[in-house]
Formats: sequence, structure tokens, C-alpha cells
Amino acid sequence: MSTQHQKDDVPTYTLAEGCPVADPTTAVRVGNSPVKGLILLQDTQLIETLAHFSRERIPERTVHASAAGAWGEFEVTHDISHLTSAKFLNGIGKKSKVLVRVSTVGPERGHAETVRDVRGWAMKIFTEEGNQDFVFNSIPVFFVRDPIKFPSMNRSHKRHPASNLSDSTMFWDFHNNNQEGIHALMMLFSNRGTPASIRNIHAFSGHTYKLTTDDGFVYVKIHLKSDQGIKNLTQQEAERLAGQNSDYHTADLYNAIASGNYPTWTMYLQVMTPEQAENYRWNIFDITHIWPHSDFPLQPVGKLTLNRNPTNYFADIEQAAFSPSTMVPGIAPTADPMLQARMFAYPDAARYRLGVNYQQLPCNAPVSQVYTPYLRDGVRHDNNFGGDPNYVGSKLRPIHFKGRVGANGYSPGGHEEWVGRVSSYSSEVTDEDFIQSRELWKIMGKTNQQKDFVHNVSVHLKSALPEVQAGTIKMFERVDPELGASIKKALSSGSTLS
Ligand code: HEM
Repeated sequence: MSTQHQKDDVPTYTLAEGCPVADPTTAVRVGNSPVKGLILLQDTQLIETLAHFSRERIPERTVHASAAGAWGEFEVTHDISHLTSAKFLNGIGKKSKVLVRVSTVGPERGHAETVRDVRGWAMKIFTEEGNQDFVFNSIPVFFVRDPIKFPSMNRSHKRHPASNLSDSTMFWDFHNNNQEGIHALMMLFSNRGTPASIRNIHAFSGHTYKLTTDDGFVYVKIHLKSDQGIKNLTQQEAERLAGQNSDYHTADLYNAIASGNYPTWTMYLQVMTPEQAENYRWNIFDITHIWPHSDFPLQPVGKLTLNRNPTNYFADIEQAAFSPSTMVPGIAPTADPMLQARMFAYPDAARYRLGVNYQQLPCNAPVSQVYTPYLRDGVRHDNNFGGDPNYVGSKLRPIHFKGRVGANGYSPGGHEEWVGRVSSYSSEVTDEDFIQSRELWKIMGKTNQQKDFVHNVSVHLKSALPEVQAGTIKMFERVDPELGASIKKALSSGSTLS
């Protein structure tokens, strides 16, 4: 779908510093025949054009590089004022502007979008108390629970350092030796790993967060459920579409919004008290585990609608920066080590990718007032706080202070004493880690998905080295001996040709 322009909106072409130029195609040169010409250094138009072109790429995200996005709104539909003081969540009918970016994780920008992968869900809610970012995934669990493993895990899912090819040996070698990822692997290799469209995925916080009020806090997991329902592609359909239209998911979302068919999601919470957390069967700070809905049912909160396409993809979507550390009062982090690490990693990535004042870019700028006189200089597009004091403690310029000491990191009755003492820690994998995967395997049995699952794993695993294949079969045997045997059979019978 192409963009329409107004007839009375006719700009005058200029150089970057405003000088009008009559023709954007000329070069100032010696020699005016079609084939001969010496270009002059005084040709600012040509030099500016070429030099700008060489510099117009910014670093792509190391993960989640390939993405589609849109604007929308979030509306509160249920009262949760007893759970959080966050103003954007208080008042049924209250609406906030939202920016969403949905990505594949491993592939580079421009890669085919229907590949088997988790989908990343990054969402900025522009509130009167600053921005609230939710940086979620399309599955509720993750592959590792020790943050130091995150870069290794992602490299194993990307290209081999020698061949520069995706490499199933290194993929499965990583997971055979870090089996805490089994639950996430079960989800990735189900048909949910190849969604039919962005409109047909759910998004999950994965981590446990806190919702806070002046009186205390509760632990929550946050879910965004597609009102369009879950719809997936088979391995074969995904492969066919990857060849036919590498931008299949971007086109689907863009065209749906352009034609007024706005997708919506319902936001739910699972809510747990600190006392329940202390006695729960599962460690609530371990992102490889879910809280079954039968233990903690979903409570509805609000509705997200995506209703406006970007007017410029680069300005609106590529320049956006999302971080789990961007929180409003009323929402707080927990002692989940992965969440803690992420709160460092994302702003760090944004400073590198977009510059130190990335928060000022129009797509990221809060709608609420921002006054940060102790963050100065860098490349900026405002007056840099003029002559206001750039050091703390000055009494020369009065400033209002509000909110709690410790800002969003703080929650009353914080429960930190429950977390323990400083130690050097790496988690161990035990049989406990296979219990929820086994439950999922049983659900796949009841919903007729086991055959597809075995096929999806086998087509990926078939090109791995034999000893790695053997290790992977053993890992799936820990989920269920029959599952391991089915994968072994599929590999040896050659029924993995897709
Ligand atoms: C220790 C664990 C993790 C680390 C260190 C980490 C780090 C990163 C980094 C560096 C980026 C690129 C950011 C950028 O360039 O702007 C990223 C993107 C992303 N990550 Fe993570 N990540 C971790 C775990 C997770 C988890 C558990 C989830 C989901 C629950 C997640 C969801 C995402 C999403 C959705 C994006 C794309 C965000 C966007 O579009 O801006 N990540 N991650």
C-alpha cells in the first residue's frame, strides 16, 4: 500500500543547510559530454549526497533486529487500583498512546519473517508519569535463567563463526548442555514457533514483576492475549512463505491496519502475594517456569488496539528503544536475575545504537514533562537545559521533587530479605526442570500436536553431528521416553524431508 500526498503540500528542495538547489540530479564538473567529466570538490550537493548515504545505517540490534511495528492505544477495562498506583492503569476507560515493535529474535534485518523463532514484543506506553515499557516474548518461558548465558545462547542460534551459516549442531550442542531450556524448546518447536501472523500471537512478561501501592506490593506475571486467536503455520507453509515473501508478517500487519482491520489484545495479570511466593511449588524468579493458570487464574486489566501505521518506518520503529528498566511508579522489578541483567543491557544497547540522548528521539520522547539537568550534552536536539545548574545540590534554581526515594526500584515491604546473601551462583538442571515440559507434551497429545512437534524438531536436528543428535534425543527422553524414541525414529527413517 503506497502513501498519498496532499496536492497543496509542495516543499522546496534544498541542501541540508537550507540552500535551495534547482536540480537534484546535477554534478558540478569539468567536461559536459555524457561520458567525460572531472568532478569538483566544490560540488557540495554531490558530496553531501554521497557522504550521507555512506553513513545512513545505524547498528542493528544484536538480537531482535528484524521487526514490524505500529502505534496504538491501551485502554483500562477493569479496576486494579487495589494492586497498583500506576496512573495509566487506574480508571476504567482511561486510554494511553502506545508504540509496539514485534520482532524475530535471531535473524538479521530483512531476513525472511516466517522462520521458526520466538517473537519479541516490545511496547512503550506513554503515560502522565513517564514511559512504561513492556519487553515481552511470544512464549511465557525462556531458554536460560542465568543471565551470563544469554550471549552464548543467542550465538548458538545464529551463524557459525567459520561458515557464517545457521548451524543445527551448535544450536543443539548448546541446549544439550544447558537443559534448563527444555520448556522453551518445547514451545519453539511446537507450531507456535511459526505463527501465521503478528496478529495471531500472544505476548508474555515471562518474568515476575511487582505491582505496588503505598501499602505494599503483589507479584505478577503479565499476559497479552491476541483477540484474533492463535493461528500458526506448519513447517512446510512457513518455508514456502519464506521463499515467496520474506516480509510476509510486516505486510500482513501493515495492510490490516491500513484497511481499518485493527488487531487487539487483552491484557491479563496473574497475581501472587509474597506469602504465596514463599510457599509456591515453583521458584517465581526462574523464567524457565510458568505459573499454571489453575494455580493463579488470569485476571483481565485492559485492551490494546494497534490502529496507526508508522508514517516513516525508520523514524517511528527503527529508532525506537525499549527497556525493561523503563517503569512508572506502581510497577517495580523483582529479584529475577535475568530481569535485573536486562535492566542494564537494554539502555546500554540503546546508547550504543542510537546515542546517549536516545530518549529525546520523537518516537521515544515521553508525553509527560522531563527535567534531567544532571544528564547533559551528548548530541541533542533541545536547548540542553540552558543555564540551569548541571550539578546536584544547587539552590539557585528551584526544582520540585516528588515520588519515592529510589524511584521505580523501590516497593514498600520489598521482600528483599527473602532473596538471601551474596554468592557466586550458577543454576543446576534437575529432574524438576522437566516436569512442566512433560505436562506440555501431554497437552500436545490431547490436542493432536505431537506428530508436528516431532517433525519440527527432526527437520532441524537432521543436519547436526551424530553425537549431538544423540545428546538431543537423550534430552527429549527426559521429557518422555516415547518422545525421544519418536525423534530417533524420524531421524533414522528419513521422514524429516519437508
Ligand atoms: C539476560 C537476559 C537478556 C539479555 C541480556 C537481553 C538483551 C537484549 C538486548 C541487548 C537486546 C537488543 C536491544 C537493542 O539493541 O535495542 C534485546 C532485545 C530484546 N529482548 Fe532481550 N535480553 C534478555 C532476555 C530477554 C527475555 C527474557 C525477553 C522476554 C521475556 C527478551 C525480550 C527481548 C525483546 C522483545 C527484544 C527486542 C526489543 C525491541 O524491539 O527493542 N529478552 N535483548
